[in-house]
Amino acid sequence: MLLPAVRSAARRLGRDLPLPCRGCSRGAAGKGLVLGIYSSEKDGGAAQFTSAGDAFDRLVSGRLRELVSTCGPPLKKGKTRIYHGLHQDFPSVVVVGLGKKNAGINDQENWNEGKENIRAAVAVGCRQIQDLEITCVEVDPCGDAQAAAEGAVLGLHEYNELKQKKKPVVTPQLHGSAESEAWQKGVLYAEGQNLARYLMEAPANYITPIKFAEHIEQKLKSFSNVKVHIRPESWIVTQQMGAFLSVAKGSAEPPIFLEIHYSGGANASDPPLVFVGKGVTFDSGGISLKPSSGMDAMRADMGGAATVCSAIVTAAALNLPLNIIGLAPLCENMPSGKANKPGDVVRAKNGKTIQVDNTDAEGRLLLADALCYAHSFNARAIVNAATLTGAMDVALGSAATGVFTNSSWLWNHLYEASVVTGDRVWRMPLFQHYTKQVTDSPLADLSNIGKYSRAGGACTAAAFLKEFVTASHWAHLDIAGVMSNKDEVPYLRKGMAGRPTRTLVEFAARLCQESHNST
Ligand code: BES
Ligand code: ZN
Ligand code: ZN
Repeated sequence: MLLPAVRSAARRLGRDLPLPCRGCSRGAAGKGLVLGIYSSEKDGGAAQFTSAGDAFDRLVSGRLRELVSTCGPPLKKGKTRIYHGLHQDFPSVVVVGLGKKNAGINDQENWNEGKENIRAAVAVGCRQIQDLEITCVEVDPCGDAQAAAEGAVLGLHEYNELKQKKKPVVTPQLHGSAESEAWQKGVLYAEGQNLARYLMEAPANYITPIKFAEHIEQKLKSFSNVKVHIRPESWIVTQQMGAFLSVAKGSAEPPIFLEIHYSGGANASDPPLVFVGKGVTFDSGGISLKPSSGMDAMRADMGGAATVCSAIVTAAALNLPLNIIGLAPLCENMPSGKANKPGDVVRAKNGKTIQVDNTDAEGRLLLADALCYAHSFNARAIVNAATLTGAMDVALGSAATGVFTNSSWLWNHLYEASVVTGDRVWRMPLFQHYTKQVTDSPLADLSNIGKYSRAGGACTAAAFLKEFVTASHWAHLDIAGVMSNKDEVPYLRKGMAGRPTRTLVEFAARLCQESHNST
């Protein structure tokens, strides 16, 4: 069915009719092309192409502009229209609305709206090309090739490893030759997040502690300036990580302590950035068993480990000039005859005793020991990430990662990074008020839950971790709320989100620009 307006436009132009073909299901050979278009500044004004859109329109002698203006209402942000047969190299062209041209930093939303618009628009455009079973797509840089690449690579990602019927793999490429460095950077940032999504989405019987460690080792094997240590249980015992071991012993799957050293800095002795990630490859809750409904999502309870390790893989690929150490305590939290029992008391690496009042508050036990160990590296900053509390999800949902930090310097860097990536952070309190609620335990120095049970659950968990920190630049990122995506982030499909990998990478990249002294 051809719209009359299209017919008359084509007749006026005296050319063969290119067919706008929404939702067309025919398979098409050749490349797809995704072009952006801005909304008009004024109501009823003409839409504006990007410079790539303008150039393509000239190539097809103005036929694209003619079609866009005659075929339906102006394209709103994120809405698309498909044209077939406009150009022999590009049998299918998707034009997608980018919103306002002057969109930039939005102070209310705490992100760069222009970049977010590009990511979302490119993602939807690339998926349309994928639906047409075209396996190669050229993408308009839309004035910000990094954001465009992120939209393409994040938007196309899907975990279908274990399905016999798979969607066609689509390779996005930059349209034109300008901004290729920024495009490549965007590809690496997005691939980093996709690695975290992959590890989080994969079932827990595929990503066990050892499989997780081997996957990361494999990703890092080509870098001569990276060393990976896969520490076995015997090493964890010699380190006296009693809190971590108490969780691990409930499972038949042996624990692993993964340690990564990326030496990108000018000197091997430059104080490193230390990343620590909670790596619970499955959290059943242990003896304090979780309800069975939705328990499968706890395969992603290694999201902290996945995001920090993926950020290091990305930092290595970007060849960032700094040293980074990654630490990931990896184990399962299972109920068994050997598992922690409520009321058990365990001893962490720093000698502090912990009463395990709820075996489902296991993440803080792993992190307590990993944070103690993190202090042996003369760190420039220690940043840990963990799917730590359901309470974090209750507080902020998926809008932002909650950041608990003792350092405004660190906070500012994380915040600035997140404005650029759109993977936002929000500062949360580390008051003594919460500390008092975890240090009042009948049998031990600490309890692993707050004494007022659910109240301020994300804050009492952070206060617990603070008891294992003496470093002056430490941040705890509670990523439970951003662990998965339904449809909130338009450029991520439904599933495990791999957030905030890009923010961690951007943060590390920004640290490189800052001299040591100012810390
Ligand atoms: N892994 C969970 C937290 C979680 C919940 C992450 C939902 C992602 C989505 C954590 O180990 C946990 O179970 N925490 C308990 C703590 C409570 C017992 C104090 C929680 O949040 O309920
Ligand atoms: Zn738990
Ligand atoms: Zn957990």
